[in-house]
Amino acid sequence: MLLQSLSLTLVASLAAANPISRRSAPPYSEGQAFTLVANVTDTSKAIFDPPINGWSLSGTRVGANLYTATLHAGAGAVFFVNGTGQDVSSASTSLASPPVDFGTGNYMPGGLQFGPAASNDREAYLSLNLGQFGTVGAGITPGLRGAYADLFIRFDAGTFVVCNETAPTYGRPQYPVRFEAAAVPDNCVAISLLAQCAPLPELHGVDEFNLRPLGAKCYDDVAAIDWSQY
Ligand SMILES: *[C@@H]1O[C@H](CO)[C@@H](O)[C@H](O)[C@H]1NC(C)=O
Ligand SMILES: *[C@@H]1O[C@H](CO)[C@@H](O)[C@H](O)[C@H]1NC(C)=O
Ligand SMILES: *[C@@H]1O[C@H](CO)[C@@H](O)[C@H](O)[C@H]1NC(C)=O
Repeated sequence: MLLQSLSLTLVASLAAANPISRRSAPPYSEGQAFTLVANVTDTSKAIFDPPINGWSLSGTRVGANLYTATLHAGAGAVFFVNGTGQDVSSASTSLASPPVDFGTGNYMPGGLQFGPAASNDREAYLSLNLGQFGTVGAGITPGLRGAYADLFIRFDAGTFVVCNETAPTYGRPQYPVRFEAAAVPDNCVAISLLAQCAPLPELHGVDEFNLRPLGAKCYDDVAAIDWSQY
């Protein structure tokens, strides 16, 4: 008893003596849903004007029900982590979007999909196509295993990037987001995709699509984080 209270006193005085001890990661909440906000991690390349730091992931329509994942200055697409507890343990969750209905009464599922690029197997193109589930193997760094509330994918080590396509055309929009397992191309910058808490809309098609929304770590406001403290 005495030893315990002594050591508690010691800990308290040590903490008081070291008021500038660094925290390892910004504080986060547990949310039902979130948007994904780009945090530029390689600030050496100024290839975007205006800069895209703090922009959100959303879809740009490139065909019927086909949406390339891109960054936008406005509000982002809302996602939730879908899966069971067992899916979390095996990193087999996915990122799902609330199913949408275009007035037909038929809800279409959606999610974040990773597809291999046609030209090589070192990068994955990201899309938000409707009528397709999110790719299994994506989630927000769960529980206490990772310090940051960021998107992971269960592929090779690599990084998310956003690219400046100088001559964007229909079907090849500006600000596409990809996953690069090899070197970051010259026209792209490395980003992290950080989860920012958002309300979960009412879900339709829960039984039809076997939706299993899980809570996820997310930041209240990514723009308010002072990274110099971590
Ligand atoms: C966010 O970006 C800042 C500045 O580039 C960097 O210091 C920080 O490590 C990044 N955080 C994450 C989680 O990527
Ligand atoms: C992309 O890069 C080109 C060439 O440097 C530049 O002229 C253009 O403004 C950039 N596009 C965007 C959206 O930043
Ligand atoms: C959600 O997760 C469950 C459990 O793994 C799975 O059966 C279902 O297909 C998933 N639904 C979507 C839309 O990803």
